[in-house]
Amino acid sequence: MTTAGEIIKIKKPRPDYPVIAEIANRFSPRYFSDEKVKSRDIDSIFEAARFAPSGWNFQPWYFYWAKKEDKSYNKIISCLTKYNRFAKTAPILIVACLIKKFKGKKTYYRHDLGAAVMSLVLQAQHLGYYCRQMGDFNKNKLITLFNFDKANNPFVIIALGKLGNYRNIDDGLLKRELDPRQRKKDFVKKLD
Ligand SMILES: Cc1cc2nc3c(=O)[nH]c(=O)nc-3n(C[C@H](O)[C@H](O)[C@H](O)COP(=O)(O)O)c2cc1C
Repeated sequence: MTTAGEIIKIKKPRPDYPVIAEIANRFSPRYFSDEKVKSRDIDSIFEAARFAPSGWNFQPWYFYWAKKEDKSYNKIISCLTKYNRFAKTAPILIVACLIKKFKGKKTYYRHDLGAAVMSLVLQAQHLGYYCRQMGDFNKNKLITLFNFDKANNPFVIIALGKLGNYRNIDDGLLKRELDPRQRKKDFVKKLD
C-alpha cells in the first residue's frame, strides 16, 4: 500500500542546488484530504497573490473560489474534462482569471497571472497545502454557469488542499501519481 509519505518521497524534486523549502517540497497532487482549509489560511493565500508583481502594476488577475460544501463547487467540477475530475477530492477550487485589458492598455496577462498564481501556490505550500493547476476545462460552460464579469477570463482552475491519504486512492489514479517528475537541465545559458 502506498502512503502519502511514499508519494512525497517519489515527488520530491531533489534539486541539484539549494532552493527554498516551498520549492523543494512542492508538487501537484491529484489526491487531496477532506481536511478543511482554515479561513485565515485562505486569506493569506490570496494575499500572496495580491502582492505579486505585474506589468504597470495593472494586477490583471481575478480569482473566484468555492469550498466543497458550496453549491458552486460541483458546477466547477462539471466544467473540468473527465481526465481532471480527480479534483473532486480537493476541499477548495479556485478559478484563476486573466484580465486582458486595463485602462485601455493590453496587460501582460498570462505572465502576470502566472506570477500571482505561483505566489498563491508557494504561500499555500508554506502553510502545508498543495495545489494542482488545470488548464483543461470547458471555459464557455464555466462562463455561462457563473455569469462571470466579462473582463475576467478563466484560465486555470486550481485544486487546493492537504495531501490525501493515498491508502484509499483508486489504482488508476495512483498509477498517474507514481509518474516520476522529470525536469530538463538545459535551460540556462550564461552569455559572454
Ligand atoms: C497552466 C497549467 C495548466 C495545467 N493543466 C493541467 C491539467 O489540465 N491537468 C492536470 O492534471 N495537470 C495540469 N497541470 C499540472 C502540470 O501537469 C504539472 O504542474 C506538471 O506536470 C509539473 O508537475 P509538478 O507541478 O508536480 O512539478 C497544469 C499546470 C499548469 C501550470
